[in-house]
Amino acid sequence: MNKNTNTIFTHRRSLLKYLASSPLFCSAILGSLTGSLSAKDNTALLKADIERLIKTTDEAINLFDFQRVASHSIPTSHYGYLTTGVDDDVTKNSNHESYSNYYLRPRRLIDVRKIDTGIELFGEHYASPIFLSPVASQKAFHADGELATARAVRKMNFPMLLSTITSTSIEEVNAALGRPAIYQLYPTPRWNITKQILRRVEAAGTGVVVLTVDVPISNRETFKRLVRQDDRDCSACHQGIDEDLSRKPMFRGTGMSGMADMDLMFIDWDFVKRLKDETNMKLVLKGIVTWEDAELCLKNGIDGIVVSNHGGRAEESGRGTIDSLAEIMPIIGNKIPVLIDGGVRRGTDVFKALAMGASAVGIGRPYLWGLGSFGQPGVEKVLELLQKELEITMQLAGATSIEKIQRSHIGIS
Ligand SMILES: Cc1cc2nc3c(=O)[nH]c(=O)nc-3n(C[C@H](O)[C@H](O)[C@H](O)COP(=O)(O)O)c2cc1C
Repeated sequence: MNKNTNTIFTHRRSLLKYLASSPLFCSAILGSLTGSLSAKDNTALLKADIERLIKTTDEAINLFDFQRVASHSIPTSHYGYLTTGVDDDVTKNSNHESYSNYYLRPRRLIDVRKIDTGIELFGEHYASPIFLSPVASQKAFHADGELATARAVRKMNFPMLLSTITSTSIEEVNAALGRPAIYQLYPTPRWNITKQILRRVEAAGTGVVVLTVDVPISNRETFKRLVRQDDRDCSACHQGIDEDLSRKPMFRGTGMSGMADMDLMFIDWDFVKRLKDETNMKLVLKGIVTWEDAELCLKNGIDGIVVSNHGGRAEESGRGTIDSLAEIMPIIGNKIPVLIDGGVRRGTDVFKALAMGASAVGIGRPYLWGLGSFGQPGVEKVLELLQKELEITMQLAGATSIEKIQRSHIGIS
């Protein structure tokens, strides 16, 4: 190749590089390529790719890629426990679908090259408003359970809530996380046991306890159906659905033995007052979905609330939590932090909840899809993808920080 030919090639390369970076050129090329296929062929190709099981975390394009892998890699009955809603799963589905009733109102001509997603929550700084909702028994989804989750979260510095029914003790989880997790509390029928757990959680350095108030009882049909599709012998590992809770790390040595079902614990505002008097930790209530209860939270000096219907695993209300948030925010305003979870699957969902006034936005099932598919790297990738989607939404909406996300950034269809 002589010098002239070389120069021509170099120019061609730069021209191609320039054209490839041009959106107009790319769409023209894609148009001509796809023009050779019928619309039906393209739909079939897309569907096939969406349904394909990814083999590595790098292949994941969005959170749903992990759901498909998890539905294969997690044992059938455990996946049933993970995916179930109640009755016909209407509320579970409504949680995500209701986000489409809100649209974005992006603002233009704002310099969004640098954005900051950091937040302050209950006196701590976090890199993102996306938090990990408390989920019980994570070793049911991957052998590393809560430790894998905590290690992933440590890298990302997101807020993490740890379930009372954790399959790993709070001390081990905190060590993996590098800071005390926010602790989710299920009450037990015996006050003495609750007191022992509070002392242990305080000793582990936790400053915030989140009392879950929404599941005294539930009808999880999808779970029951998938359990009976599982031909493994569950009793080889545990006693079945209502496993004796005394075997769980947070109950060991508390005198819990023989008590299999915490669902029996129906609590009221007297219990909340008793709990508040018992500890100096901040007290947050999880499972609030109406303005009336939100008002009572303010009256009773609660430090924060989580607008949640337990991911559609408590009552079959049929209402998505984003709609509950819409009725609660006018009552709470910015008096106490309002967190929300349920059906959050996209960065736009996170953005909409923040625009509505939420201080932080939680995910439950999605990080377990990551955990069940690939362990710690799966959780990391789920968090990275959702965070990236949030950042893109902020940039496109013209909001350079979480405080700059306003109610006027969204409208109702
Ligand atoms: C398998 C599973 C176990 C859960 N365990 C708990 C728990 O121990 N304590 C609790 O307060 N919420 C629990 N939740 C509810 C979550 O904290 C959260 O509210 C819900 O998953 C959010 O909805 P999403 O899964 O659609 O993101 C659980 C949810 C799932 C899916």
